[in-house]
Amino acid sequence: MVKIPYGKAVYLVSNNINKFYEAREVLNEYGLATVMLRIKGSEIQSDSIEEIAKESARTMAERLNLNVVTEDAGLFIEALNGFPGPYSSYVYKTLGNEGILKLMEGINDRTAEFRSAVAFAEPNGETKVFLGISSGKIAYRMVRGREFGFDPIFIPDGCDGRTFAELSIQEKNAVSHRGKAFKKFAEWYISLIKLKFK
Ligand code: IMP
Repeated sequence: MVKIPYGKAVYLVSNNINKFYEAREVLNEYGLATVMLRIKGSEIQSDSIEEIAKESARTMAERLNLNVVTEDAGLFIEALNGFPGPYSSYVYKTLGNEGILKLMEGINDRTAEFRSAVAFAEPNGETKVFLGISSGKIAYRMVRGREFGFDPIFIPDGCDGRTFAELSIQEKNAVSHRGKAFKKFAEWYISLIKLKFK
């Protein structure tokens, strides 16, 4: 059973400032403040970003005795059978954007998607997960702008051909995996706080 959230502050456990900026923008539209808790936790190994986010949220909520939100994201490339997927963080650090472009050399099918799993957990309570997907294509070369992970090589569908890196945070959130997942979370969360403050 879900207990009651604390109120209009959302505690996002993350060390990634770009995730914070993007999440904050969405949550702000719902009248929610975002507090970034820069705490390192051990991430479980799993093929599922939902499971990774859920388990991080559950352990952090218990450790901090606080309702918390965590997010796990990944880039899934169709021609590479979903690689790097849940291993995106490691692959970004080791191969980087150049490495992905090299792996994609000679491949015409550039179809890919970003996925984001946003998890909310209460200490010793329920954990909820919200999934957001952004489909698109892997670019043939890096197009820089705002620097965040694989943004310079990902062209989202439904935009004008610019990479994520070239979009403003607002433009990216309108089509991104993270924007969609945080919107789903915010709608669920504000309906709970409305119940509390009615
Ligand atoms: P994490 O495990 O959720 O931190 O994300 C895995 C990796 O995917 C990160 O290290 C980033 O390089 C990359 N990533 C996640 N979300 C995005 C995004 O919105 N844009 C670009 N890269 C991202």
